Amino acid sequence: MEENMIKKDFPILNNKNMVYLDSGATTQKPIQVIKAIENYYENNNANPHRGAYDLSIKATECYENTRAKIAKFINAKYTEEVVFSKNATESLNLIAYSYGLSNLKKDDEVLISIMEHHSNLVPWQRITKQTGSKLKYMYINDKLEISEQEIKNKITPKTKMVGITYVSNVTGTINDVKQIIKQAHSVGAVVIVDASQAIPHMKIDVQDLDCDFLVFSGHKMLAPLGIGVMYGKKNILNQMPPFIMGGDMIEYVYEQETTFAELPNKFEAGTQNVEGVVGLGAAIDYLEGIGYEKIQKIEQEVIMYAREELSKLKYLELYITPNCNNHSGVISFNIKGIHPHDVASILNEQGVCVRSGNHCAQPLLRSLGIDSTCRASFYIYNTKEDVDRLVKALNITYKMFEKYLKQN
Ligand code: ALA
Repeated sequence: MEENMIKKDFPILNNKNMVYLDSGATTQKPIQVIKAIENYYENNNANPHRGAYDLSIKATECYENTRAKIAKFINAKYTEEVVFSKNATESLNLIAYSYGLSNLKKDDEVLISIMEHHSNLVPWQRITKQTGSKLKYMYINDKLEISEQEIKNKITPKTKMVGITYVSNVTGTINDVKQIIKQAHSVGAVVIVDASQAIPHMKIDVQDLDCDFLVFSGHKMLAPLGIGVMYGKKNILNQMPPFIMGGDMIEYVYEQETTFAELPNKFEAGTQNVEGVVGLGAAIDYLEGIGYEKIQKIEQEVIMYAREELSKLKYLELYITPNCNNHSGVISFNIKGIHPHDVASILNEQGVCVRSGNHCAQPLLRSLGIDSTCRASFYIYNTKEDVDRLVKALNITYKMFEKYLKQN
């Protein structure tokens, strides 16, 4: 079978005899990203925005040039629409506490989908309770998709904010975010797109989507942990109060009052994760070097093969949409009658890494009538051989439990 040459760029995948199928949780890092971080510390490290000396200016350039690179990468109209955060979770909290808290009023509605990760759900519970507004949900049908009718029914003149994940981290369903945005804008609501599980796999164009906010984490797209992005339309960001207060986000500070810096610094208090930013820049270079067309081709082939091969295992329950063109990245499954943590442990003994649990999406799992699953998530370095090893390991796991299952 054809070797995936990309795998060679990932030291950890060559150092260990494992099949890594947990990229939905975090991706492994290519040598190009690791080297970029090493180079930053060996040659360019200082605190950006704070020194008049050459090294600090160099660090500022590393930081700000990457912001410009990201703006281009997602096709933002203005560079200052890109705000750095710790991860998608922090970006979502920023939006909830800054925009949500200052704009939502009693009886307004915040609409999210039942597919949301807890990070695009729990903050809205808090903010709607605090403002007297209501939290509503778009539910999925038996194809594990949000239907057009559901979108139309749930977006009403009371809807003021909509939060939607582009791709579900449990089912891999690709949501029709363009339709949701169009519908939400027709009633004057703003839309937040959680692109965490989408941006590693597909080209994102914020102007084409016309989303008001878009968030993602770097670590799910080959960059280091601890760096994320919040994109927001400039006119909206300009009206929002800061979220975290401290150094570098101010203009003048008096004993009792403060005026704040312009965008994007207003939202970037404290010394920032420049190492993470540099790593994210290198990750973008790496992805663009391959190109999304090729990325999608590689992934589609592997995920289609995984769908086919896993569907043949009669003892497996799969949680995927039947619509294979609307499926990205992850396959959740259970061996009927066996706890997913047990399955994941036995797979681990055979060198296969999958996530098990509720995947930070308890309401979604509850709506599917389950409380946990195993989840295999795929990325550009995965091959059909990896799928074969997963299948082999699952067959061994099932054999171990077969006798017990028959007794019950
Ligand atoms: N949100 C990450 C996942 O889905 C951690 O695994």
